[in-house]
Amino acid sequence: MSFQKYFSSNPDIRAQYIFNLIAPYYSKLDHALQDKYQKTFELLKQKVPIEGLTVLDIGTGTGAWAAVYEKNASGTIHAIDFAPKMLAESQKKYPNINFSLGNAENLSQFADQSIDIVTASYVLHGVQSDKRAKMLTEMSRIARKYVIINDFIGKTPAFVRFLEFMEKSDYKHFKLHFEQEMQNYFDKSDRIFVAYGTGLYIGYK
Ligand SMILES: C[S@@+](CC[C@H](N)C(=O)[O-])C[C@H]1O[C@@H](n2cnc3c(N)ncnc32)[C@H](O)[C@@H]1O
Repeated sequence: MSFQKYFSSNPDIRAQYIFNLIAPYYSKLDHALQDKYQKTFELLKQKVPIEGLTVLDIGTGTGAWAAVYEKNASGTIHAIDFAPKMLAESQKKYPNINFSLGNAENLSQFADQSIDIVTASYVLHGVQSDKRAKMLTEMSRIARKYVIINDFIGKTPAFVRFLEFMEKSDYKHFKLHFEQEMQNYFDKSDRIFVAYGTGLYIGYK
């Protein structure tokens, strides 16, 4: 039975099960997420000139982070996710974004240095460090200018900690070590605190 996938020892099967299950509910949060992401984006624009740049959003989910780039006049936007039902929600809403099914650990469909900005929002804290390393390797290979990670920094509210526990995410380790992990990939990197518990990590190519 499919709920047994939640207990799978394969973290990809478990994550796909969870995100396929919650896709319609996650999609309903899109407006609230976009308001929050727009504020994050205002800070990002002070560091990175987004106008006209091509973007690849990995683990795009229901598309809220990719949609903020679209609204702020980016160039062509690609977005991938490995949960088909999350992707189906985003495809319904954002016809101008190029969505496709894919695993962020192997993005061989994108050539080296072929996209200006490669970004991920609330994806990397969810996976263990070996998987995170594979994702960062791919992101840094594909990016021509910037790798931008929108994710947890600092304290995490109690209800979010509960959700992360249910997801069996790596958020505690992520918060402690991710800044250092970025420095392993980029000669120059930055961390921007946005609001309680959240922020941006930027790697410069
Ligand atoms: C917490 S959601 C974030 C969605 C969206 N980026 C946002 O900020 O609203 C995490 C998303 O990452 C996707 N994901 C996790 N691991 C992935 C992988 N290895 N390849 C592709 N997508 C992945 C999940 O399917 C899910 O849609």
